Amino acid sequence: MRSRAQIKSHPIHPMLIVLPLGLLLGSWIFDLIGKATNNELLWAASYYCAITGIVAGFCAAIPGLIDWIGVVPPKSSGKNRGLLHGGLNVLVLVVFIVIAVHRTNAIAEPGGFELGLMTAAVIVLGISGWLGGTLAYRNQIGVDHRYANAGEFKERQLDSWERPACNQSELSEGQMMLVRVGGERVVVGRCSEGMVAFADHCTHKGGPLSDGALVGCTVQCPWHGSQFDVHTGRVIAGPAKSKIDVYDLEVRGGEVYITPRKETQPKAA
Ligand code: FES
Repeated sequence: MRSRAQIKSHPIHPMLIVLPLGLLLGSWIFDLIGKATNNELLWAASYYCAITGIVAGFCAAIPGLIDWIGVVPPKSSGKNRGLLHGGLNVLVLVVFIVIAVHRTNAIAEPGGFELGLMTAAVIVLGISGWLGGTLAYRNQIGVDHRYANAGEFKERQLDSWERPACNQSELSEGQMMLVRVGGERVVVGRCSEGMVAFADHCTHKGGPLSDGALVGCTVQCPWHGSQFDVHTGRVIAGPAKSKIDVYDLEVRGGEVYITPRKETQPKAA
């Protein structure tokens, strides 16, 4: 899904992570070589790499957090993976802070304690980087998809179900729009038989259907390819086994109104 912290569709988080990654790894490598060669200059280089790497790490975390909150679909495997990814990165930064404080000055010789902790932190950094890769390359967080005729990713926030989600002229056949309303994520789309609305939640692992492909009256999840009938929610192809939620909608004067499902309908006053 298109990143919220982006510049012309280029997500900022992956642009920034190269800095802490390079600096923290550099700090570890300088210390290893400095220790082996008894070189004060390398100890100092390691120290300053660690300090700048910590600052850069917290800066890189900000756009990552924005995307985790606003882009990664709720109740999905990606949400859990993102939480673990962020948690491990914070742990790494805390470890480097502890090491920097413990060293007291730039040219202090690193001891076994610092080198051991740093090595463990670098291993954790590798695991966290792997998870980040899965988020980017499998879950496609931050990817601005362009399917045939789908146009740009469209998204809208409604403050009430009474408001129109869109005008039907905004969507051509095969196009979808993510509508956030009443704490739910609903996809409004135009299939070959007219306007439809369904939950933006694949029943396999919570993938965002608004970011998938709508062909005919079938939507395909971008994560593992499950396909659903957008009228009935029925599974056409797995790995998903359960149907998706579908919504009734009404078109009045060209405006498209979504009817909330019974369990989310506002209570009468
Ligand atoms: S999340 Fe796996 S197919 Fe949708």
